[in-house]
Amino acid sequence: MRTEVAIVGAGPAGLLLSHLLAQDGVESVVIETRSREYVESRIRAGILESSTVELLDAVGLGERLHAIGDQHRGIYLQWPGERHHLDFVDLAGRSVWVYGQTEVTRDLGRARDAAGQELIYEVTETAVHDVETAHPYVTFVDADGNDVRLDADVVVGCDGSFGPSRSAIPDQAKQTWERTYPYSWLGILADVAPSTDELIYAWHPDGFALHSMRSAAVSRFYLQVEPGADINTWSDDRIWSELAVRLGHGQDGWELTPGPITDKSVLPMRSFVSQPMRHGRLFLAGDAAHIVPPTGAKGLNLAVADVGLLAPALVALLRKRDSSLADAYSDTALRRVWRCTHFSWWMTTMLHTSGDPFDAQLQLSQLRWVCTSEAGARGLAENYAGLPIGF
Ligand code: PHB
Repeated sequence: MRTEVAIVGAGPAGLLLSHLLAQDGVESVVIETRSREYVESRIRAGILESSTVELLDAVGLGERLHAIGDQHRGIYLQWPGERHHLDFVDLAGRSVWVYGQTEVTRDLGRARDAAGQELIYEVTETAVHDVETAHPYVTFVDADGNDVRLDADVVVGCDGSFGPSRSAIPDQAKQTWERTYPYSWLGILADVAPSTDELIYAWHPDGFALHSMRSAAVSRFYLQVEPGADINTWSDDRIWSELAVRLGHGQDGWELTPGPITDKSVLPMRSFVSQPMRHGRLFLAGDAAHIVPPTGAKGLNLAVADVGLLAPALVALLRKRDSSLADAYSDTALRRVWRCTHFSWWMTTMLHTSGDPFDAQLQLSQLRWVCTSEAGARGLAENYAGLPIGF
């Protein structure tokens, strides 16, 4: 098989890249190890920055988002006895949207289907070859057991942190940074109307809690738990009572309404950056190059920003033989990656208890400053609502 751009990974980064390239007449083939059902139903974060929404709107992907997504002006930050609202629209001139990654992935899949895009699911033994030459290629075994070789002008790794693409960059050509946090998140989905109009990020001596949502009828919650906590020790009753305590049920008349839990999982918390994001004719986008802990909801937004830079760079490279944007891609993308890496680390370390009483005092002082100083609040708002495209 031959195409112009071989895309490894059919998550939001890979599908969006394929969509953006097609708008400029550049052909791609997308391969994916998981099944389509798995990719379209895996639960991930649910907050879109305004620049993500603008990009999706600009390329005809905003219809369902505007119909069923929910625009939020800001978030609540709280600690025992106090809850403060930060209004991003007032502070930074930008809002955010609640719209699950699952929905973004479905919209992209439908748009690619409508365009007749080739999406190849359930492949195995994917390997990326000869990226230092002008003739890179990808090999894999398709779902019917056939060995396939896919030749391309360019290969893009959108295959997440554990996919094969990043390892096609030799160790001596890359540098990595990693931080593993000493806690995990227990995440649940519940069939119950949210008990809040906007997200609540709660600091509590027993650990962080987050009240998020997916729709008027589905709520999403997270609890800070021990790293690698055993999900079987978290009964539904235990989860709801811990959420009630940490989110301040009864505080100033606020009530948390529990409901049937439909999904429960434990998520590790990690920061990771690998650079460069380009090696020869291989480009990386999204989680293949960087991981952020979920506390600032940056993962999906960063992946979209990467692809928003990469698509025009590849169009210029392949259509005009102009390599300037492709040459600048890694450095340009990494500026935003490091900003979001810092912001996610900062939100994470401000809100999760470490067990050290000195840390707790610093966190409370920081939270008070962020909630009472306009400069502090604006710093959080600018980063959370998202830096403009091209930052
Ligand atoms: C989510 O709804 O899944 C979510 C929202 C905000 C975060 C992280 C996750 O910071």
